[in-house]
Amino acid sequence: MENKKLYVVMVGLPARGKSTIANRLKENLTKDSIKTRIFNNGALRRRLELKNTSFAEFYDPKNTEGAALRERIALMNLERARKYLVGRGQVAILDATNVSIKRRNMTTSLLKGHPLLFIECINDDPEILAASILRKIAHAEFNHFEKKAAIQSFRKRIDYYNTIYTPIKEGRNFIKLDSLNNQIMQEELVDDIPYYDRIRDFLMTDSVKSLFLIRHGETYFNLENRIGGDSGLTESGKAQARALAEYFKNKKIPVIFTSEKKRTIQTAEPIKALQENCTVIQFGEFDEIDSGICECMSYKEIREQMPDIYSARKRDKHNYIYPEGEGYISMKSRIDTGIKKALYLSSNSDNIMIIGHQAVNRMILSHFLYRRPEDVPYIYIPQDKFYHIVATQDKKLFQLKKYKIPRLG
Ligand code: F6P
Repeated sequence: MENKKLYVVMVGLPARGKSTIANRLKENLTKDSIKTRIFNNGALRRRLELKNTSFAEFYDPKNTEGAALRERIALMNLERARKYLVGRGQVAILDATNVSIKRRNMTTSLLKGHPLLFIECINDDPEILAASILRKIAHAEFNHFEKKAAIQSFRKRIDYYNTIYTPIKEGRNFIKLDSLNNQIMQEELVDDIPYYDRIRDFLMTDSVKSLFLIRHGETYFNLENRIGGDSGLTESGKAQARALAEYFKNKKIPVIFTSEKKRTIQTAEPIKALQENCTVIQFGEFDEIDSGICECMSYKEIREQMPDIYSARKRDKHNYIYPEGEGYISMKSRIDTGIKKALYLSSNSDNIMIIGHQAVNRMILSHFLYRRPEDVPYIYIPQDKFYHIVATQDKKLFQLKKYKIPRLG
């Protein structure tokens, strides 16, 4: 059994996914019996309850009192991490912004005896940042703010950090990570880093503990076999949504991701209503395949009025692109982006729910469960069942599950 020791030092502006990665990394290493602990400066600051430190000016580098207090907290955590590795601990994760060269140098000079691996998280997607900030201000420390003021205050905090932020350019051991796309943008290693393959592999793997992939309930268009459009749910579609809500009411679903179409949003509504604390986030990335000039037509109409299109699609459904629209092949990148965003935003919760469409759900399913591309457009996506997906480094599970829909009338 490897018993080497390592310090992992997170780097990055607030709300860039550092804590999420730190938590998941710890979970992942612990599963492999590697003793790992996180030393989080923000959590320590909140625990110490020194005074109200949630106001933005506390983070102004010119606020000498605030800076001294933050340095004290950082030193406390460095000392705790050091002691942890002197004892039985194997990996100590320092979770803080560590954005200035000065702070990183201090960290390096105080943590001796074991290698340090810096992981810098980078993600400047404005939509993701806005959603992450919403999650941040849910902390009790923002309770005394109105929502708008809390957002402003958090953004100002980020601005203050930005004034002292120097991205890593050189150093002994570091990884620059695109934390939304799980992509390593740069890595430099001088020392032999224990557990490196495992950590690297983990950083680059999409992992989902429990994803409920649901197709919207029946719509008026479904009744006529019409494609695309923005039709609402029928009475039985609404009954399906209510039945889903019943099924999930005892499970914790903190976020539901839908498309921007009525049918997925309407399916989410009763589910949200039976949850204690649930947000619905609409992503255009999860909109159904755009069938271009065939939008709102039935398959029968396409066959009769546009036989060339009908047969060309039948010949090669995966690669076929509707005139002025999309094909499975061209949807891939937006669906992948939607999945990345959804995973990123719900990485602190065990359950994730996506309510999508037939073609969209086929693509999402094939993202986690490999299918030959030509088979993807034929994956079975019913409206009275849903998929439950688990895809972690050590477990893959795909189950098609039925829920009970009461008869109407
Ligand atoms: O029929 C419902 C629907 O979601 C349409 O809006 C969409 O065009 C179609 O399914 C996608 O399935 P297929 O690729 O099998 O036509």
